[in-house]
Amino acid sequence: MDLFEYQARDLFEKHGVPVLAGAVATTAEQAFAAASKMGGRVVVKAQVKVGGRGKAGGVKVAENAEEARDKAAAILGMDIKGHTVHQVMIAQAAPIESEYYLAILLDRSNRTFLVMASVAGGMDIEEVAKTAPEKLAKVPVSAVDGISLAKAKEIVAQAAFPADVADQVADVLVKLWETFSSEDATLVEVNPLVKTSDGKVVALDGKVSLDENAEFRQPDHEALVDHSATNPLEALAKEKGLNYVKLEGQVGIIGNGAGLVMSTLDVVAYAGEKFGGMRPANFLDIGGGASAQVMADGLSIILGDKDVKSVFVNVFGGITACDAVANGIVAALETLGATATKPIVVRLDGNNVEEGRAILNAANHPLVEQLDTMDGAASRAAELAAK
Ligand SMILES: Nc1ncnc2c1ncn2[C@@H]1O[C@H](COP(=O)(O)OP(=O)(O)OP(=O)(O)O)[C@@H](O)[C@H]1O
Ligand SMILES: [Mg+2]
Repeated sequence: MDLFEYQARDLFEKHGVPVLAGAVATTAEQAFAAASKMGGRVVVKAQVKVGGRGKAGGVKVAENAEEARDKAAAILGMDIKGHTVHQVMIAQAAPIESEYYLAILLDRSNRTFLVMASVAGGMDIEEVAKTAPEKLAKVPVSAVDGISLAKAKEIVAQAAFPADVADQVADVLVKLWETFSSEDATLVEVNPLVKTSDGKVVALDGKVSLDENAEFRQPDHEALVDHSATNPLEALAKEKGLNYVKLEGQVGIIGNGAGLVMSTLDVVAYAGEKFGGMRPANFLDIGGGASAQVMADGLSIILGDKDVKSVFVNVFGGITACDAVANGIVAALETLGATATKPIVVRLDGNNVEEGRAILNAANHPLVEQLDTMDGAASRAAELAAK
């Protein structure tokens, strides 16, 4: 999960990374109030989860509260790379002398954590990485050792930070590591980290990504979720513990096992070409224990999607046998009753396939149709969706 800048700022503050005052506003009047309270020069910053805000006109200096109100009015509602600005942060303005760059991230390909540090920070760090890679120090960090003060000093020396800020930057690095590890982040980036005219080092912009796999041990992170951006069907699926991702198409998909579901999406998209471009409407993996309840939950979420015109249940019986899945489908349709209104194409194969097919045949539900092959079933589901 990516955080907004103001959320990153708050996490930094919690872990002792030096930041300036900041307040969130959703209206120009709130921006005026926050800037009045802060006093003096402020920066009005668009809060969107995308880079390059400054260049897109989403970061503006305001000399006083009146100006902050006008700038906020201009920035709120702006579109930055497809993201609408609903909030701005009013940040105290810093008298910048130099801009640096610091980041800690998960380096998957090298199976390690990585620090990136540069004295050439600011808005063009991507350019620096491309044209002057020697100005961007990259230092692997082991998950076991982390970043001690000694290690931080080593990194600071390697990136050639000037002597007058070296100790402060090393201290920031240690605290960024604390933020990174204790919050289970996969990315913590500060760009720019600045030296102000009075010689202080401060983080002016932060990007943080949190590892959702760790949310079970991070109860505070729930409060950081931007619920306005979550698809309601996805939210419902999450509540039920289902692996569901909403897609754009018309054919609802249920399968067991992520690999099978992924290939089902491909097969349906391919088959759908013959029927006016029908496409999968979702990813849903019901996993190993496909009980009647899980099947009912999955079906009701998919049938609740107004874009869905047909459903394809594609199951390869392994540990979960086909007869159990078939019983799940029958029970799910009983539970759903009249709310189930769309055709359901079922393809069963693998463990206990004969028993499974027999159960569905015996139930003889008017919405359910069985096919033997994955391709055949995908094609039929696409055809029914196109009707
Ligand atoms: N509080 C502040 N005081 C003074 N100048 C600021 C402040 N915040 C940002 N700036 C200036 O604006 C520039 C851009 O701001 P910032 O880094 O927050 O946005 P950005 O880099 O364009 O956005 P993104 O990080 O999303 O790409 C900074 O490099 C800095 O020069
Ligand atoms: Mg930035």
